[in-house]
Amino acid sequence: MHVGIIMDGNGRWASRKGLSRMAGHRKGALAVEEIIKSCANFGVDTLTLYAFSTENWKRESLEIDSLMTLFESYLKKYLNEFIRNEIRITFLGSREKLSQKLIEIINIATESTRHHTKFFLNLAINYGGRDEIVRAVKKIAVDIEKGFLKSSDIDENTISLMLDTASQADPDLIIRTAGEQRLSNFLSWQSAYSEFYFSKTEWPEFNKTEFVKALDSYKNRVRSFGAVAGE
Ligand code: IPE
Ligand code: IPE
Ligand code: MG
Repeated sequence: MHVGIIMDGNGRWASRKGLSRMAGHRKGALAVEEIIKSCANFGVDTLTLYAFSTENWKRESLEIDSLMTLFESYLKKYLNEFIRNEIRITFLGSREKLSQKLIEIINIATESTRHHTKFFLNLAINYGGRDEIVRAVKKIAVDIEKGFLKSSDIDENTISLMLDTASQADPDLIIRTAGEQRLSNFLSWQSAYSEFYFSKTEWPEFNKTEFVKALDSYKNRVRSFGAVAGE
């Protein structure tokens, strides 16, 4: 099962506590561990975490810079644990605009875990569903220019395989925290048939109990993918 999470509400959580937005992001980063650890117990083998969107560059540079530093230190801190637990890290998003230091640690994390098959952790940083599709279309155009592909051969699978999630299953469930009910450019292509769960809890307070509530809700959904339910 593949679960995607739009980790929203760090800023609001911090303001409620009279703290800086960054304090909210730091607390949010700490909330991630418990969710990753819970996945194995509930049959979740792929987890996609939306950490920074292509639209988040509109924020103040101080917040952006601190977030980028947080991503670097997070990856450095947990890399050995990911390796020990046979977690494969995949980066979703564009490396364009990311700092050299962050790109380096992302490359190390993806390279050193690429042979793992036990659990897939996708980190969406500078990710936008539309940007991902644009990049996929460009790759397809290059393949056509080089004569590797014919336009008449393009089908849904061709596009899926050009996305950052290439060869992974689509998300079964997308969770968004902090009450907002929108995708905000998350997994636009892959979410065609995803189920949604909206939690009022802000991300820094999202924990195993909240995660189980979302998974329980998912269990009761009827997924017919366009067919007549029950047949
Ligand atoms: C989500 O929390 C984290 C990122 C988008 C990086 P927000 O920072 O969006 O928190 P709110 O929505 O302002 O509360
Ligand atoms: C979505 O949250 C992006 C991430 C959680 C990384 P935002 O807080 O940026 O989304 P909007 O602006 O409320 O749609
Ligand atoms: Mg937000």
